Amino acid sequence: MSEKALHKPLVFSGVQPTGDLHLGNYLGAIKNWVPMQAEKPCIFCVVDLHAMTAEFDPRALPGKTREVAAGYIASGINPDTSIIFAQSRVSAHAELAWVLNCVARIGWLNRMTQFKDKAGKNREAASVGLYVYPVLMAADILAYKATHVPVGEDQKQHLELARDIAQKFNNDFDAPDFFPQPEPLILGPTPRVMSLRDGKAKMSKSDPSAASRITLMDSADEIADKIRRAKTDPDNLPESRDGLANRPEAENLLSIFAALTDVSLDQAIAQFAGKQFSAFKGALAEAAVAKLSPIRDTMVRLMGDPAELDRILAKGAARADAIAAPILAEVKKITGLS
Ligand code: TRP
Repeated sequence: MSEKALHKPLVFSGVQPTGDLHLGNYLGAIKNWVPMQAEKPCIFCVVDLHAMTAEFDPRALPGKTREVAAGYIASGINPDTSIIFAQSRVSAHAELAWVLNCVARIGWLNRMTQFKDKAGKNREAASVGLYVYPVLMAADILAYKATHVPVGEDQKQHLELARDIAQKFNNDFDAPDFFPQPEPLILGPTPRVMSLRDGKAKMSKSDPSAASRITLMDSADEIADKIRRAKTDPDNLPESRDGLANRPEAENLLSIFAALTDVSLDQAIAQFAGKQFSAFKGALAEAAVAKLSPIRDTMVRLMGDPAELDRILAKGAARADAIAAPILAEVKKITGLS
C-alpha cells in the first residue's frame, strides 16, 4: 500500500521563539505556509522547548512565544482552520522525544552539522538539549504522524534524521508503517535570506548586529534605513543570472525583492539590469514596506491583547493534544509502557 493511503496528509512546521521574527522567517518559512492551508490540514507550532537548548531568558519567553503566534496569524495563518500552539503545552512532544532518544543512535546525532555549527569550538559546554534537538524535532513531527514538513535547506538533515528514526522505531518494535516517512515540502522559490551586512551569512536572530536583519516588528523608517545601509558591492546590478556569481549581496537583495513582490529572480534581474544600487534599494525598500507594514500593524494589534493570544494558543493546544494523545498512547502500548 502506498504511503498516501496509509497516513492522512498532515503538514507540521515550527519556528523557535528566540529573538525577533525576521524577514528570513517570513520569506523562508511562514509566507510559504499560507497557501498550504487550502490543500492539507496544517499544524504550526511555536517550538518553545527548542528555544531552551541555547541561552535564553525565562522572563522573555512567554512574550516571544506570543510574538511568533502573532506573526503566524498576521502573515495569514488562520487559527480557526490551522492549529497554532506552543510546543510545551502538549506533553506528547517531551514524552515522545524521550522514547525516540532511546531509538536514535549517537552515531546519527554525531553527523548533525547544525549541532557542530551551533556548539562551535566549545562543544563540551553545549547543553545536552542542543545535542538531542533533532530528536525533539522528530518527536514534534511524529507525535501527529505528520506527512509533510515545510523546511528550509538548513533543516533538511534534521528531517532525514526524523525519517530514519521513524523507520527504526517501526522496525525495532515490529510495528510496520506505524510512523509515516515525513517528506520535506519545498513550496515556491523559497529564498535563503541572507544577512544585510554579509551576503554569505544567513539572516539570523542571533546576529549581534540588528542592522543585519529586518524584523517583522520594524517600522517603515527602520526598514528603509536598514535597506539603505545594506552592504553592496561597487558594480551596477547585473544583466543576467551569470552576473550574480561571486556577488552574494546583489544576489541576496535581488532574491528578497523577488520574494517580496512574487516575481522570479530572473524577472527581478531583468527589472533592474544595469541600474545603480541606490535606485534598486529605493524600490526594494518600497516593496518591503508595502508587504511588511500590514503584517506589523496586525502583529501590534494582536500583541496588544495577550489574553486573546493566550486563548488562541490554548485552543490550539487542545486541538493538537486531541491528535497527539492517542498516538502517544499507542506508542506506550507498542513499547511496553502501558
Ligand atoms: N528546527 C526548526 C528550525 O529551526 C524548527 C522546528 C522544530 C521544526 N520542530 C520542528 C520545523 C518540526 C519543522 C518541523 O527551523
